[in-house]
Amino acid sequence: MSSIVLATSSAAFEQKVRRAFGNEVNGSLQRRHSEGMFEDSPMAAKILVAEGPDVISIGPNVPVDLALDITREIEVERPEIGVILIAEPSPDLWERALHAGARDVLDPTATDEQIRTAFTRIIETADRRRRNLAVDAGVPDSVGRVITVVSPKGGVGKTTLATNVAVAIAANSVGRVALVDLDLQFGDVGNSLGLDPENTIADLAKIPGGVTATSLKVFMTRRDENLYALCAPMSPAEEVPEAIVARTIRILADDFEQVIVDTSAGLSEATLSAIDLSTDLVFLCDLSASALRGLRKVIDVLEDLGVSGANRYFVLNRADSRAGISVADAAAIVGMNVDVEIPASEAVARAMNFGHPVVEESPRSTASIGFESVAELFVDTGIQRKRRFSFGRDR
Ligand SMILES: Nc1ncnc2c1ncn2[C@@H]1O[C@H](COP(=O)(O)OP(=O)(O)OP(=O)(O)O)[C@@H](O)[C@H]1O
Ligand SMILES: [Mg+2]
Repeated sequence: MSSIVLATSSAAFEQKVRRAFGNEVNGSLQRRHSEGMFEDSPMAAKILVAEGPDVISIGPNVPVDLALDITREIEVERPEIGVILIAEPSPDLWERALHAGARDVLDPTATDEQIRTAFTRIIETADRRRRNLAVDAGVPDSVGRVITVVSPKGGVGKTTLATNVAVAIAANSVGRVALVDLDLQFGDVGNSLGLDPENTIADLAKIPGGVTATSLKVFMTRRDENLYALCAPMSPAEEVPEAIVARTIRILADDFEQVIVDTSAGLSEATLSAIDLSTDLVFLCDLSASALRGLRKVIDVLEDLGVSGANRYFVLNRADSRAGISVADAAAIVGMNVDVEIPASEAVARAMNFGHPVVEESPRSTASIGFESVAELFVDTGIQRKRRFSFGRDR
């Protein structure tokens, strides 16, 4: 069942939409229009959202500026509802419409096929967003852990760790888990989990009225029952203001039991914001001298910045490498004991290439046991118990 509201004085447009759906809209289709209604945008938005439709189309015959004002109001009040502007498209209008929160701009002369396709696509999106919100109802507010994965060097396994630990925690926790990709230029949390995000963290900057708990949930990609991902921008050119990062993490920490943050190499502005709000820091390194020395420097910088509140863990990835540096050497260089050692395992790359986390794909691989042990630092995954019975070869 879907529900469509058309905000227009044009009975002809209503007929057109009905015809586009073969006169069989699977749900309700209503046209709303009254004298002066479109001149008061907050009032118009209230009337249009009143029955909680999936889609609201605005126009034709509504002045563009008013249509954009109404779109903005709807986006703030009810971001799960999709808005389509019905007006002659131009690059300028497209840009303004998307900024206001509209999902599409459709020419009033569009064909039946174009109308049906546009409305159907937006109905489906609205449905997904509504399900994201529905899951929320009845879940008590929590002040969650914020676990940030930090490493001075690229390619040491931050994303592999963050995604696998998030999946392992989500599978073993009653609460919900948010995974945030703060590798803002080249983040690949989405690919690592085989997700196809509709929105990313970059879109949060465009929300009129700023990020709210509701809009945030709508912009996340649900991976499974308990796990939601906020993916990195599609293009490295998209900017994400620092204030958005901090606000996003604060809201997520209020709403989710566990927030896992993947970062880019080193200490970017975004990473520093996350660290500031973290309850737990996972320092990740491999057994290379440069990475270990880099990590020591990161820890020193955090000392200098007075970041001292969070719990700290030191995790060694590919800890079985035989390159002349032992685990004890690593601990000495970094000045911290190693909490978890994760061996190199072919199963990791194989699983990741197919967009699957190794903890699901090959749960008995040695690396999976390592990732589960990291998750165990935060929730009881049962790995300690399972390990006693695990004699399987690495797969
Ligand atoms: N324990 C492991 N065993 C085998 N391969 C691994 C292991 N950990 C990570 N990898 C592989 O190493 C590569 C780099 O991992 P990943 O992308 O997680 O690193 P990263 O630190 O996030 O890198 P970047 O800084 O570029 O974001 C990936 O191909 C991943 O599959
Ligand atoms: Mg990464």
